[in-house]
Amino acid sequence: MSVTPVLEADVLRRQDPELAEILLGELTRQSTTLQLVAAENFTSPAVLAALGSPLANKYAEGYPGARHHGGCEIVDVAERVAVDRAKALFGAEHANVQSHSGSSAVLAAYAALLRPGDTVLALGLPYGGHLTHGSPANFSGRWFDFVGYGVDAETGLIDYDQVRALARTHRPKAIVCGSIAYPRHIDYALFREVADEVGAYLIADAAHPIGLVAGGAAPNPVPYADVVCATTHKVLRGPRGGMLLCGSELAERVDRAVFPFTQGGAQMNTIAAKAVAFGEAATPAFTAYAHQVVANARVLASGLAAEGLVVTTGGTDTHLITVDPMPLGVDGRTARGRLAAAGVVLDCCALPHGDARGLRLGTAAVTTQGMGEVEMARIGALLAEVLREKVESRRARDEVRDLVGGFLPYPG
Ligand SMILES: Cc1ncc(COP(=O)(O)O)c(C=O)c1O
Repeated sequence: MSVTPVLEADVLRRQDPELAEILLGELTRQSTTLQLVAAENFTSPAVLAALGSPLANKYAEGYPGARHHGGCEIVDVAERVAVDRAKALFGAEHANVQSHSGSSAVLAAYAALLRPGDTVLALGLPYGGHLTHGSPANFSGRWFDFVGYGVDAETGLIDYDQVRALARTHRPKAIVCGSIAYPRHIDYALFREVADEVGAYLIADAAHPIGLVAGGAAPNPVPYADVVCATTHKVLRGPRGGMLLCGSELAERVDRAVFPFTQGGAQMNTIAAKAVAFGEAATPAFTAYAHQVVANARVLASGLAAEGLVVTTGGTDTHLITVDPMPLGVDGRTARGRLAAAGVVLDCCALPHGDARGLRLGTAAVTTQGMGEVEMARIGALLAEVLREKVESRRARDEVRDLVGGFLPYPG
C-alpha cells in the first residue's frame, strides 16, 4: 500500500482539500528533503493503517478486562497483543503501552516510584538530559529536586566517577540514565551498581536506543533498571507514543501511575499501531535494519570527522551523532540554517564543552529509506560543502533532491 495514492484517492481530498493539501505537502517535504533528525523515522504503511483505523473512535479507560467503557472486547485484544509483543521483544516481565508520549512515560515512572520533593540524579540538561530530567520549565524540575551529573568536557563520555560521587553525597531516591544526545552505549550495569550502593531506584530513559535494543544492536536496560521508559517512534519505527517496561513486582504501581494517575483514556489506534511496530521489530529484517543504522552512523561520523568537524566522543555506537561545526567557521545555529536551505533537516544540540551549540544527526530515517554506507559518505561530503559554502544552496538542494529521489520513503 502506498501512502500517496491512498491520500489522493481518499475521502479527505474530496471533503477537505485544504487539509489534504497540507498532508500531501508534508509527504512531499519528507520525500524530497534529507531527514537527519535523530529522533525521527518513517513508520511503515501498516503502522499508518493502524493509526488511521476505526480504533481511533474507541474510548477505553482502564486495562484489558477492566475497562470503564463498554464495547472494549476487540480493543482489549489489540492491547494484549501489544503488551505481549513488547514483553517478548525486550524480555520484560511487564509492559505498559498506554503512555501517550515519551514524556508521559517518564512522568508515570516518577509517579510510580517517587513523591514530590524527592531527590533524583540525572544527566544535566546542558549535557544531553531531556526536559523531563529536571528542567525548571518542566514538571520534573518543579516537583523534584534534581541533581545533574555531566560528561567529561574532553571525551564527551559520561563521567561515571562523578555519578558515583554525587549519588553518595545526595542519596537520591532515583537515578535516571538516558539522554537526547548521547551517542555511546550506556553502562547500565554500572548505574545499577551505583543505585544499589545508595538504595536508589534506577530509571532508564531509553527513548533513543530502544529500537536498537529491539534489533540487538544496543545493550538492553531491562535486566538492570527498575523501570525502563521509552518512545515508540524513534529508531523503533512505530507510532508517536511511549511505553514502560518493568518487573512484575512494580507492574501494578506502573499501571496505576499511567491510568488513572497521569492519563485518561488510552489511544487504542496508537496501541494497535505499537503492536504492529513491535511485530515488525521482532523480524530478522529489523535486526538487519538496526545494525545498518549503526553502521551508517559510524560511516557518517567518520566522514564528518574527516571533513574537520569535531565529532563528540570521537564517534558513535548508535544511530546518533553530535558534532561541533566550528572548525569549519560556522556555529551550530548558522549551520542548521544553511543546511535547511539545502534541504538537509537536522537539529542543534548542546555540546559537552563551552556554551556553543552543535549539530545532532541520526541515521534511523535514511536507513529505513534504504540508504547505506555509500550514501552516508556522500551525505558527509555534501554537509561539509554546504557548511563551507563551497556549493550554492540551490545546487546543494538539487543534489539532495537527486539523492533522496532514489530512496522514497513511501514509493508507489
Ligand atoms: C531521552 C528522552 N526522553 C524523553 C523524550 C520525550 O519523548 P516525547 O517527545 O515523545 O514526549 C525524548 C524525546 O526526544 C527523549 O529523547
